[in-house]
Amino acid sequence: MYTIIDGKKIASDIKREIADEVKRMQNGGLMVPHLAAILVGNDPSSQTYVANKIRDCEEVGFRSTLVRFEKNTSEKVLLDKITEFNNDDDIDGFIVQLPLPEHISGNRVIESIDPSKDADGFHPVNLGRMVIGLDGFLPATPYGIMELIKRYRIETAGRNCVVIGRSNIVGRPVSILLSRKGVDATVTVVHSRTRDIAGIVGRVDIIIAAIGSPGFVKADMVKEGAVVIDVGTTRISAPETKTGFRLAGDVDFEHVAPKCSFITPVPGGVGPMTRVSLLRNTLMAAKQRR
Ligand code: GUN
Repeated sequence: MYTIIDGKKIASDIKREIADEVKRMQNGGLMVPHLAAILVGNDPSSQTYVANKIRDCEEVGFRSTLVRFEKNTSEKVLLDKITEFNNDDDIDGFIVQLPLPEHISGNRVIESIDPSKDADGFHPVNLGRMVIGLDGFLPATPYGIMELIKRYRIETAGRNCVVIGRSNIVGRPVSILLSRKGVDATVTVVHSRTRDIAGIVGRVDIIIAAIGSPGFVKADMVKEGAVVIDVGTTRISAPETKTGFRLAGDVDFEHVAPKCSFITPVPGGVGPMTRVSLLRNTLMAAKQRR
């Protein structure tokens, strides 16, 4: 039998912990945390993500601000807004939702965020701190994945792990967190140029799939008893649903699950943990500033 990792439940537990902390801050006469978000353009997934993040803030008692720009907004206008947020004492942390339109340099944007307000943990300073094991803001999705592993007491020390995908926001950072001292997994990162992905995946104990390719991980690639963490959230047309789409993970859940010891569903696995990690980073930013 396999265990379905209930990210929604863990996220809701953590949100309760955060809400309690916010109440304590309030009772102690401190301002509650304030997260701001910048959204450029109308990408439907990004709009949903940002709306959810704002809703999460309300749920735990944070203040929130959303600033929206048209898709054709110049990089300069966006960088000016970031400078404004960097200098605004009332904002504890903020994020710029990715991806950005092609004419805007994502790296320039990320580097312009004050690292002490970088609630997404994407700034090179925070990523660098993560690499050498210093405290800092962790990228939201890797942070959420590590918390799921911890709360389900999944053994990682000495186990073989494969991360499928090498993105700056998921694959690469999670590969580093998994190999940290105290976590101690042996990690392989595979990507589009890797030879024999199936062979490598088939030998490991823990699989983190983060490529955005629906159903990529198939049952015949997975070792009996493996732990499977599915980070994929591709929108697939589904006319029969209310929204007209459904989210598809990178794992063929139906056929892979029976071979697993633990597996995350999509939706309801990693997604809610990503959102809650952003709240945790914002809370930490606020506490450091008070
Ligand atoms: N796009 C996909 N995931 C994320 C995230 O965690 N943060 C931001 N800002 N953009 C994203």
